[in-house]
Amino acid sequence: MNFQFPKGFFWGSATSAHQVEGGNINDWSAWEKANAGRLALQSEKKSGRLPVWPEIKDRAQNSQNYISGKTCDHYNRFREDFDIAKSLNQNAHRFSIEWSRIEPEEGKFSEKEISHYREVVKALRERGIEPFITLWHWTIPLWFRDKGGWFNKNAPDYFARYVRIVASVFPEVKFWITLNETNVYAGKGYWEGIRPPQSKSLFRYLVVNRHLSRAHIAAYKIIKTANPEACVGITHHIIYFTRFMNKLKNYFWNHLFFSSIRDCQDFIGLNYYHSDRDTAEHVKFKNWPFDPEGFYFILKDFAGRYEKPIYVIENGVWDEDERRSHFIAEHIGAMAKAMGEGADVRGYFYWSLLDNFEWDNGFCPRFGLVEMDYKTMERKIRTSARDYAKICRDNRI
Ligand code: BGC
Repeated sequence: MNFQFPKGFFWGSATSAHQVEGGNINDWSAWEKANAGRLALQSEKKSGRLPVWPEIKDRAQNSQNYISGKTCDHYNRFREDFDIAKSLNQNAHRFSIEWSRIEPEEGKFSEKEISHYREVVKALRERGIEPFITLWHWTIPLWFRDKGGWFNKNAPDYFARYVRIVASVFPEVKFWITLNETNVYAGKGYWEGIRPPQSKSLFRYLVVNRHLSRAHIAAYKIIKTANPEACVGITHHIIYFTRFMNKLKNYFWNHLFFSSIRDCQDFIGLNYYHSDRDTAEHVKFKNWPFDPEGFYFILKDFAGRYEKPIYVIENGVWDEDERRSHFIAEHIGAMAKAMGEGADVRGYFYWSLLDNFEWDNGFCPRFGLVEMDYKTMERKIRTSARDYAKICRDNRI
């Protein structure tokens, strides 16, 4: 493959507040405390058959593994982390603003936390890194949880009130992701009922989806009013389906939400990790079918269907580092192929900059370009990060 990416292509990595900042007080931090013991006890049943089990067993069976706590202490070390991103030739960074910090009590906005995120954006800009702000990456303030969270009929209005504040603080920020993966959020929280709020019900699942869609539309309008030049969208978890009822699954999982906000999005944000088919290369740890060809098909499909710029907002793997380098090169290669055939892709973000807190899997999966030592908070740049940095530097694969 020899492909030159267009000038100004965005190369970056992604994080989310709850997974890296540390010290958050929200629905997840409360849920972790209540469920850590159970998750540790159930870990063998869940992961005992993975080839990696002997390596992760001790960690997985320790309840502390499921408490996010300080995670990477990125809240205090973001400058250091952005120095690393810059040294890796990244020119964009996707992060999330934590709603529970900005509005810890209903209707009361924290000046201190607003200033914190001002500093975050400033630190990125000083390093020549374009900020991509996510407004909601799954966690919610406790007061909102107590009102029923996204099931509350006024949920879109509560979200809009928070967005109005944030949009007014950053009128110059160009890229906005309102919501992260509503399909995974509603799927795990309301369809399967295994993550907060563990409220398994088809009815609630449908209502929550509707509220999320309305919340996006409200946020879209608010941000565009604050800055008509802004590019606003969502990012969605996309699977390349090939098996039983693949067309139906493709519609419900990949496209339904995008269709519901069709006129209110300036770009298509895709998080792609895997397909549903057996591929020659399975990742060792999670057994997610590693499928760059599926990624190519997805990009072609989305490019033709929506005719909007595409940003790959997440793509990553939990595996040995050599395989991470391989995964990145293969997926960027697939993306280049799709672009060569006309797909208008404008940016690629690896998930994740740092080893982070992986929700109900705790600290077991390690996706980072940068390895974390959680005891010393030392950051160690992995070889895959340097391999990816060469692609970013050359803007070519
Ligand atoms: C989520 C991230 C998560 C990643 C890896 C994505 O679905 O947006 O929060 O860490 O997958 O599991």
